[in-house]
Amino acid sequence: MIITILSYLHMSKCLNDKIFSIIMDISGEENMPAFVIGGFVRDCILGRVTHDIDIVVQGSGIEFARKFARRLGENIPVSVFRNFGTAMVKYQEKEIEFVGARKESYRKDSRKPVVEDGSLEDDQKRRDFTINAMAISLNKENYGELVDPFNGREDIKNKVLQTPLEPAQTFSDDPLRMMRAIRFASELEFTIESETLMGIKKSAFRINIVSKERISDEFNRILQTAKPSVGLKLLDETGLMPLIFPEFNELKGVHEENGQRHKDNFYHTLQVVDNITRVSDDLWLRWAAMLHDIAKPVTKRYDNELGWTFHGHDFIGSKMVPRIFRTLKLPLNEKMKYVQKMVLLHLRPIALSPEGVSDSAIRRLVFDAGEDLEDLMLLCEADITSKNEKTVRRHLMNFQIVREKIDLLEEKDSIRNFQPPISGEEIMEIFGIPPSRPVGIIKNTIKEAILDGIIKNDYKEAYVLMIQKAKELGHEPVKKQDASEISEGDA
Ligand code: CTP
Repeated sequence: MIITILSYLHMSKCLNDKIFSIIMDISGEENMPAFVIGGFVRDCILGRVTHDIDIVVQGSGIEFARKFARRLGENIPVSVFRNFGTAMVKYQEKEIEFVGARKESYRKDSRKPVVEDGSLEDDQKRRDFTINAMAISLNKENYGELVDPFNGREDIKNKVLQTPLEPAQTFSDDPLRMMRAIRFASELEFTIESETLMGIKKSAFRINIVSKERISDEFNRILQTAKPSVGLKLLDETGLMPLIFPEFNELKGVHEENGQRHKDNFYHTLQVVDNITRVSDDLWLRWAAMLHDIAKPVTKRYDNELGWTFHGHDFIGSKMVPRIFRTLKLPLNEKMKYVQKMVLLHLRPIALSPEGVSDSAIRRLVFDAGEDLEDLMLLCEADITSKNEKTVRRHLMNFQIVREKIDLLEEKDSIRNFQPPISGEEIMEIFGIPPSRPVGIIKNTIKEAILDGIIKNDYKEAYVLMIQKAKELGHEPVKKQDASEISEGDA
């Protein structure tokens, strides 16, 4: 009894918004019982704020939505999705979706549902997890009461995810739910109840009927949790990983040759992803961590003198990124290029051992990483996963020295957002030549000389070098200028 009263009070607290009293009025006038259901109720109990509000009504959801929008009285449009029998109203920052209660089942070979009208309980049964199957009444006689036929509230208390029906049935209705289970487990730090977990293992192969976009969406959401390794390990344990991302699965395993073992790159990568998650919210930096060693399986060799080597895994890995992005339907834009760049450069800072590292090596790193240098340093620091604390400390110290050297050099030269001090157009004008190979050679000679520290990153020194290089190539300026008269203002 006490629990019921408490839940009643708690639920009412979540119904403060005027939209709920409007729905209550319409439901009474039209004699159409209405409930708020699913994620909103779950998040309300968890104390999380959500702006996605699902309303289930007994009757037509579309008709109800129209009445609701009119009642808000501010010319608010209703988006109708007739095929799904749903309608959506956007109000302030909220998205309120209305649907008629229904029974729904899916054919084995397709995601196309066969839908019939049903009761509230029918509707609750067809939902994915008990914690997502709770409803709160918006009807006058029992406004605010929790309708929880599958004990979702208890499962929230115990931090458990389970399906309301037989797992095989729930997952067969929509196999994406297997990934949702894993995403919720990672996001909410819940455990998946054993029969539900077994159900995922048994139904894993059916993930292939789900679109790649929906899968990647959940995958990204797993990567955006506070400890992505939780979800990634579950994808592995349930057998989903090799089906959705075979290249990542290939990282698994340890081989031994002449008593020498290499580390398991799968678990190493999971740790790198967790490490990067602690220092950055950026999804694409997390993807860079996921993929930094992706070419280790294909570059792995055993050398009698060197032991295990993975030569070129940075370069080959960066070449693998576009295909992986294409297959997973991730964006093929500058985000992908950023991930490629991070994979390509991830060994560079560590190669700059603090003793005897040349300024030009640092300058080249700053030039190649450009504005992503800080992210690259974070990735490299996250990549240190030794169990030996001394080793970790030593590497971190080395990176600190590299960072200091970068800062010192950056004060002198501005390399990070390098712009050539003399443009190609200017070279053409000075020598009266058309776009041609010599222009590229001259530009490149200037850039290389700056990066090697032979000349300063300034117009005057670049001008002298340009004249010298052009001469070697058989070109003289059409208009002679004394280098001593040249100032930045001429650029
Ligand atoms: N749902 C379901 N099966 C799915 C997707 C959703 O049963 N494959 C149901 C659940 O009851 C869920 C509700 O539809 O609570 C709303 O789904 P959605 O908005 O996608 O997710 P939420 O549960 O609200 O949570 P999140 O926004 O974190 O995805």
